[in-house]
Amino acid sequence: MILVTGGTGTIGSSTVKALQAKGARFKVGARSPDKLKGQGVETVLFDWDKPETFGPALQGVEKVFLLTPVSDKQTQYTQALVDAAKKAGVKHIVKLSVMGADAEPGISLGRLHRSSEKAIKDSGIAWTMLRPTYFMENFFNFYGADPKKDSTVYTTHGNGKAVWVDGRDVGEVAAAVLTGKGHEGKAYELTGPEALDSAEALTILGEALGRKYTHVPVPEEAGRKAMKDQHMPDWIVDGLSELAALIRNGWAATPATGVKDVLGRPPRTFKEYAKDYAAGKI
Ligand SMILES: NC(=O)c1ccc[n+]([C@@H]2O[C@H](COP(=O)([O-])OP(=O)(O)OC[C@H]3O[C@@H](n4cnc5c(N)ncnc54)[C@H](OP(=O)(O)O)[C@@H]3O)[C@@H](O)[C@H]2O)c1
Repeated sequence: MILVTGGTGTIGSSTVKALQAKGARFKVGARSPDKLKGQGVETVLFDWDKPETFGPALQGVEKVFLLTPVSDKQTQYTQALVDAAKKAGVKHIVKLSVMGADAEPGISLGRLHRSSEKAIKDSGIAWTMLRPTYFMENFFNFYGADPKKDSTVYTTHGNGKAVWVDGRDVGEVAAAVLTGKGHEGKAYELTGPEALDSAEALTILGEALGRKYTHVPVPEEAGRKAMKDQHMPDWIVDGLSELAALIRNGWAATPATGVKDVLGRPPRTFKEYAKDYAAGKI
């Protein structure tokens, strides 16, 4: 039995679909299980802010897909779940981390994942780290491209390129690792096959959806001000600014082999993502 956390979000829902396709035994730990109604998925109450939900959720569980939301509490969340998992006799934890989590000194969001990785490694439970780069889904989820109308997208990415990864590939890798053998003690870097700048990515999305998306690069200070105007806390403003700087400086443009290593096929291209999104398959 596998416990999936984050199963209502971008990567967790892809993981759920991939586990269903494999006919795997799993339950989704969710704070709002109603969101999964009608999907034929077993659910159990699980709330990162209510550690008392961990024990019951972990009953009968051998493997955990551990996905923390973006939070400055992610290390405490992870430590508390690891402690409960030890008590429950969990055998393997698969953590959704981030590319560069092992980089020294790295960036603040990477360091949060690194300390969470450490909590898992120190537990003595077998582990696998999944370290994806930036999700293709970010253009709709965070950057402001509107699938329903033409939009102007302001980023601090400059003309820097990134090897965007399709969240479905991350979910399929997670499902393969959770149901397969030989992944213990390994960290997989998960990227797409090609480096694209934000204007190129938006052109591909726009062509597939029949929209005109315009990319406007803005200076970092303008990006920070926009986030602060939305009352985002300083730690996340700093974290997201650092992430954008990696793209701007060309440090997120090198493809890695993790998707192929696990799935035995190349990662999906941005064109495939855009085409499937436009066809309503995602
Ligand atoms: N975006 C990127 O490009 C990128 C790249 C690499 C790594 N990452 C990492 O990916 C992770 C985020 O993954 P994602 O984008 O798939 O997340 P997401 O779509 O934002 O979904 C977050 C999930 O966490 C759940 N959640 C939030 N608060 C919770 C709580 N208190 N208790 C229980 N569940 C809770 C949400 O449930 P509800 O539906 O109830 O809200 C949802 O299922 C982060 O760790 C981030 O650092 C992101």
